[in-house]
Amino acid sequence: MRMKKILMLMFGVLMAIAMTGCGASDSAGSASSSSKTVTVGENSSSSSAAQAASGKKALVVYYSATGRTEQVAKDLAKVKNADIMKIEPDPDYTEADLDYRNEDSRVSREHNDESLRDQIKLKKTTPDNWAEYDTVYIGYPIWWGIAAWPMNAFVKGNDFTGKHVVTFATAYSSPLGSSGQLLKEMAGSKGDWQDGTCFTGAIDDAKVADWAKSLK
Ligand SMILES: Cc1cc2nc3c(=O)[nH]c(=O)nc-3n(C[C@H](O)[C@H](O)[C@H](O)COP(=O)(O)O)c2cc1C
Repeated sequence: MRMKKILMLMFGVLMAIAMTGCGASDSAGSASSSSKTVTVGENSSSSSAAQAASGKKALVVYYSATGRTEQVAKDLAKVKNADIMKIEPDPDYTEADLDYRNEDSRVSREHNDESLRDQIKLKKTTPDNWAEYDTVYIGYPIWWGIAAWPMNAFVKGNDFTGKHVVTFATAYSSPLGSSGQLLKEMAGSKGDWQDGTCFTGAIDDAKVADWAKSLK
């Protein structure tokens, strides 16, 4: 119990430091793009058509509570000429729900009682034309060292057989850690999963683009 308090205190200090450095991107607020699959990026329709013709299509699926992962997801989709879909919990998290300092907030309750995470519903679980994608990039914020739990419902609700999956995340200071491996297990270990990276601090579009280009 004492250890947990010390850990929470350290986490709080890290958050406070990181928030000072990332204020601009944090103020993006709850991103509001819809859950329908849309294509982003320059020349996206022709590139998507070319990808479809070659039998290779990529999809970026992400959850983002305050806009930082959304920024990375959009940069990645642009470089990869991929379609993009935002995961939307139903009901969505309010600012009060996300207050990890409050022991009684929704995230704190879900953190303390894993069974509550299984009850999270999504507005839409399976992307349109799911069977057509052979590469799926999965992005999420890190919550308490692992993937924000709305992603659990997404990976449990879809069949990744035959797909190449790359995970990525954003956090104040935590690494990707075992978050991708845990999602893979929730997906029944179907598909070929690869750990991507976790972006910390202010999100730098050029850095994200360089990382995206480095992915095969
Ligand atoms: C409930 C909660 C738990 C978090 N846990 C961690 C954590 O363990 N490590 C960390 O570095 N950041 C943590 N953060 C910070 C987020 O990972 C970080 O702000 C992330 O970039 C938010 O992404 P988003 O804007 O896409 O929601 C947490 C934030 C929240 C709301």
